[in-house]
Amino acid sequence: MNLLNIGNRTLLRKQLRQWLLETEPSRLKTLWREADRVRHDTVGDGVHLRGIIEISNYCRCRCRYCGINAENFELPRYRMQREEILKTIDCIARSGYGTVVLQSGEDPGISTSWLTDIIATIKRRHDMAVTLSLGERTPEELSLWRDAGADRYLLKIESSDQDLFEHIHPSRYTNWLNRLQMLRCLRTLGYEIGSGIMIGIPGQHYDILVNDLLTLYDLQPDMIGNGPFIPHPKTALHQELERGKDHRNQVPNDTLMTYKVNALMRLLCPETNIPTTSALVTLDRENGRELGLVRGANVIMPNFTPIAYRASYDIYPRRVCLQETAEDIQRSIDACLSQGGRFRARGPGSSLHYQARRKTLLG
Ligand code: 5AD
Repeated sequence: MNLLNIGNRTLLRKQLRQWLLETEPSRLKTLWREADRVRHDTVGDGVHLRGIIEISNYCRCRCRYCGINAENFELPRYRMQREEILKTIDCIARSGYGTVVLQSGEDPGISTSWLTDIIATIKRRHDMAVTLSLGERTPEELSLWRDAGADRYLLKIESSDQDLFEHIHPSRYTNWLNRLQMLRCLRTLGYEIGSGIMIGIPGQHYDILVNDLLTLYDLQPDMIGNGPFIPHPKTALHQELERGKDHRNQVPNDTLMTYKVNALMRLLCPETNIPTTSALVTLDRENGRELGLVRGANVIMPNFTPIAYRASYDIYPRRVCLQETAEDIQRSIDACLSQGGRFRARGPGSSLHYQARRKTLLG
């Protein structure tokens, strides 16, 4: 069943908008079923686990949605030490994971050579993919890190609308064009690229969200992570949400809209990796992970940041798993997978079209 006419842009735009506005339960069931079928037929029933370590919460940016923005002076700041990071990675490897994700704020204290050494050490010690998610960095650094063995880079566009992007990212360190250029640069360097958007940002109207989906389709990332915007009381956007929410075209920042976006993304980019994000699970602790996995997703990214730091990586409030140990998280993930007839995928779990690109390059 073809719910979307991908070849016809005008029609596709209309269909995406209709699905985003759909409220009829039986029609939504059709969307979930189709996203699940496409997921099953392309990437299969294996679920890739990526172990995340939030290595630093220092940030030079002032993103108006994010609790670790540079102007939140009350937040205790931390940067993990080399040995601490490597020890945590040993734990991720022992848990059988094929990927580690090193995530941080835009921290100028993370020097090029310091991280180059860490990446090279991980690659020497473990047979694991290394994903970086460190914000906007220079092409020279990206190239050195790639040479050291980094496999993937995650850089969300957050919004395809330049005005909205610039409104929520007032810092001079970040701009919309640079982000798109950086994604292109990453791809040229041979990285697998991940991107995504936030859903329900104040000022994100339905036409913008349709463009977000089309922009991600055109970009064809290897991974697409979308999460609901969760207002943080220490940020400017918290107030704007209250003011803007009665606008009739405002996209809601809720779980239903997130499921719709992920299901549509699966139909648009069947071969990509799609995680159930922690922001989604934060809004629906009971069922977020399970429902995400039957509505298009095939990846989970459990948090391995040492518990002492977790609360300080305060990007939005009430984040899930602030106290759980790696074993606790593992137990709940295994229960979730076996309940849904899914299983842990082994190996690094590159996206199918990345594998195809490599074959073309090598062959
Ligand atoms: N709500 C939801 N997601 C957020 N992020 C940051 N702040 C928020 C928030 N308030 C997400 C963004 C960002 C990543 C670091 O975390 O997608 O890229």
